[in-house]
Amino acid sequence: MDIPYAEPYKIKMIEPIRLSSKEERLQWIKEAKYNLFNLRSEQVYIDLLTDSGTGSMSQNQWSQLMLGDESYAGATSYYKLKSAVNEITGFHYFLPTHQGRAAENVLFSVLVKEGDVVPGNTHFDTTKGHIEFRRALPVDCTIDEAKNTHNNHPFKGNIDIAKLKKAVAEHGVDKIPMIILTLTNNSAGGQPVSMENIKAVSEVAKENGIMLLIDGARYAENAYFIKNREAGYSEKTIAEIVKETFSYADAMTMSSKKDGYVNMGGFIAMHSQEIFEKASMFNIMYEGYITYGGMSGRDMNALAAGLYEGINYETLDARIKQVAYLGAQLDDYGIPVQHPYGGHAIFVNANEFLTHVPREEYIAQTLAIELYIEAGVRAVEIGTLLADRDPDSRENRYPAIEFVRLTIPRRTYTNNHMDVVAAALKNIFDRRETITSGYEIVKEAPILRHFTVELKKK
Ligand code: F0G
Repeated sequence: MDIPYAEPYKIKMIEPIRLSSKEERLQWIKEAKYNLFNLRSEQVYIDLLTDSGTGSMSQNQWSQLMLGDESYAGATSYYKLKSAVNEITGFHYFLPTHQGRAAENVLFSVLVKEGDVVPGNTHFDTTKGHIEFRRALPVDCTIDEAKNTHNNHPFKGNIDIAKLKKAVAEHGVDKIPMIILTLTNNSAGGQPVSMENIKAVSEVAKENGIMLLIDGARYAENAYFIKNREAGYSEKTIAEIVKETFSYADAMTMSSKKDGYVNMGGFIAMHSQEIFEKASMFNIMYEGYITYGGMSGRDMNALAAGLYEGINYETLDARIKQVAYLGAQLDDYGIPVQHPYGGHAIFVNANEFLTHVPREEYIAQTLAIELYIEAGVRAVEIGTLLADRDPDSRENRYPAIEFVRLTIPRRTYTNNHMDVVAAALKNIFDRRETITSGYEIVKEAPILRHFTVELKKK
């Protein structure tokens, strides 16, 4: 018999969690105005809201905290992190920031101006927010296969090169400060981008003199998929694949809270000295001095260690197989999910799950609320609420698919927890015909509304 895979670590410290009663949860979600972000964490049993900053650090990372150098300028911790970023990504210039969206804010302050157009594969919501906030336009050039959850395309995060070329021709290179490749493509389902596609996008960028930016939040998970799915890469190490990935880009933004295995942190890295110098000014204004940028020395130390752990094959293998373990159970129950399974999450297709809830009543949010009430599992809506309103017409933007994202934190839950999630969804699936109405908005912010929106039952 084959020896099954298991995590390449054991558990040394535990954090108690508690399953509440259904009555409690009904009360709490009502008090939270039916917004899962408003729940207190102790009201949640299994928290699959995000994999961002919610992972567990290793004993090596914890020991690094003790060695942090908190000097304002020139800390050893800064140099330790800079050296890890240089070695892993190949980028020479580097600026720490307090998280990923801060990296976007600093870099886009240099590069994006009103009237610009920024093509990419599905821009993450903060990326889109930072572009639209500057009155510029993100253009989603993701391949159409990503919109069909039944299609098993191995690299659904890819950019459609024809769409990209069309966007460049239509808007003109002068209006396009950069192309953004998000690895993995989070909003399409944690779907990877192939090396062939990264190369092809970089060729379009180079031919037109446009910068290629990689949003690298989950670059190591992307490399894992390339190793396992793309011809010619099975013998390469994750480190080699990561190096090649970044070799096609001019710069990267990073939310270190994902593949950096830390609870807080981010950075920008690039080749251009000119952009580095301009970005340094914004970093000092928004984040902190250029050798800490909103991070404490101890956290930079933990991140330097986390970046190396993040490209460890066994760690990636256990993580991505745990995501697939949950996905396979849902498939067995006939629950519609995005295929193939993503790197950091299983995306449930809420349109196919709750067919009687009108789209004006927020289908994915309705399912996420049901899941919380059923078993105290907190997932997140990747649907109409997240898509925000059209900046001009102020109408709702209805995405092609409304997803509920079951996001698995790194090294945090066991497969027993995954069994609970699967059983809870099955119970809801069995009574799905009885769910016929959703929610309406009572209050919302003009941008990134999903974080603070208040809802009431229809
Ligand atoms: N880019 C991607 C692809 C992301 O997934 C995120 C965050 C960011 C940028 C922003 O980074 O949170 O450190 O400011 N994603 C989290 C999520 C929040 O739940 O998917 P941040």
